[in-house]
Amino acid sequence: MRILVTGGAGYIGSHTCLELLSAGHEVVVLDNLSNASAESLRRVEQLAGRPLPLQVLDLLDAPGVGRLFAEQRFEAVIHFAGLKAVGESVAQPLRYFQNNVAGTLVLLQCMQQYGVKRLVFSSSATVYGDPARVPVTEDLPLSATNPYGRSKLHIEEMCRDLARSDPSWRIALLRYFNPVGAHPSGRLGEDPRGVPNNLMPYLLHVATGRQPHLKVFGNDWPTPDGTGVRDYIHVVDLAKGHVAAVAKLESLDGCVALNLGTGKGISVLQMVAALSAACGRPLPYRFEPRRPGDVATTWADPSKAKQLLGWSAERGLEDMCADGWRWAEQNPNGY
Ligand code: NAD
Ligand code: UD1
Repeated sequence: MRILVTGGAGYIGSHTCLELLSAGHEVVVLDNLSNASAESLRRVEQLAGRPLPLQVLDLLDAPGVGRLFAEQRFEAVIHFAGLKAVGESVAQPLRYFQNNVAGTLVLLQCMQQYGVKRLVFSSSATVYGDPARVPVTEDLPLSATNPYGRSKLHIEEMCRDLARSDPSWRIALLRYFNPVGAHPSGRLGEDPRGVPNNLMPYLLHVATGRQPHLKVFGNDWPTPDGTGVRDYIHVVDLAKGHVAAVAKLESLDGCVALNLGTGKGISVLQMVAALSAACGRPLPYRFEPRRPGDVATTWADPSKAKQLLGWSAERGLEDMCADGWRWAEQNPNGY
């Protein structure tokens, strides 16, 4: 298939482009490089042995996006482009609604205008807020605790309304749990700008000496060891989930939400131990107060994705840590 990947130069997008090329798809990337480097795509081309054209373009540039759709005959779109820092979204909510919601609106309008009605969207487990129960199933109530999460909810709702208005649309809303790790080649990985917010990239900065120790946000959560529990998923498994979603889009019933997770909960201290084992030395940490907005526990019930896409995660915590460490060690300054 000929696929447009928005945000394809970023962390999850670059891994997905590689899997798409390996599966034989033709891929064009649209990215404004606001949070990525074109070097990631050059490396994807090397690994795949195939070209990967990049259009440096902002989704908010409606005439530019329209021209791209007019020039190229896309059959489907995978939409990663967006801002994703929760704290930043609290400080700058309008920027998040403008970039994420208005950017998606431009994309959907162009897709409709050019008759490209096949979409895979990067949603997030954040749409469950503090989930009513675990494992989390797709039918749980949705809520947002910050503007980033609300931007995902708004986009999901736009997609549901669109598919209701026109039954010829096929949309997969993929709700990712916690993507971590890197490509096993050590050539692709997560390259956050500044001090990382999330657990694995922060721990990798500790492992490479860029941070002195991990701050563990709370050891008094109602969990087995008192630290937060999450469903970490290897980014290559996640990327393969997108290839499966593209393959099964046609068979979906309008707009469908699917959890992409492993179904296993891992605590912060379990992650510290696993990454310490991968890099061969104990990584220092200190307990700090809970981070505002955090929840104790969340993990996915991924059985709907297994049933509808024939996809399930295959890589375990050891692979996530070994691959994450290989990337960090070989690319201490990122791309
Ligand atoms: P990322 O920042 O690495 O990738 C996003 C890409 O989108 C970047 O390359 C950025 O330059 C581009 N972009 C942003 N705004 C744009 C715009 N207006 N026009 C064109 N390009 C634009 O992030 P990621 O971790 O790869 O996440 C990809 C998607 O998955 C995002 O939508 C994110 O919200 C979602 N998601 C990520 C996680 C996670 O933990 N990484 C979890 C759940 C959902
Ligand atoms: C975060 C986002 C969430 C997003 C998800 C995607 C926040 C508040 N939430 O979720 O919206 O969908 O990423 O992956 O940013 N931790 C530490 N020390 C750290 C960093 C994290 O102890 O320096 C702990 C957290 O308290 C949590 C766990 O590690 O228990 C995972 O945190 P993180 O990687 O930030 O992911 P989430 O909070 O699940």
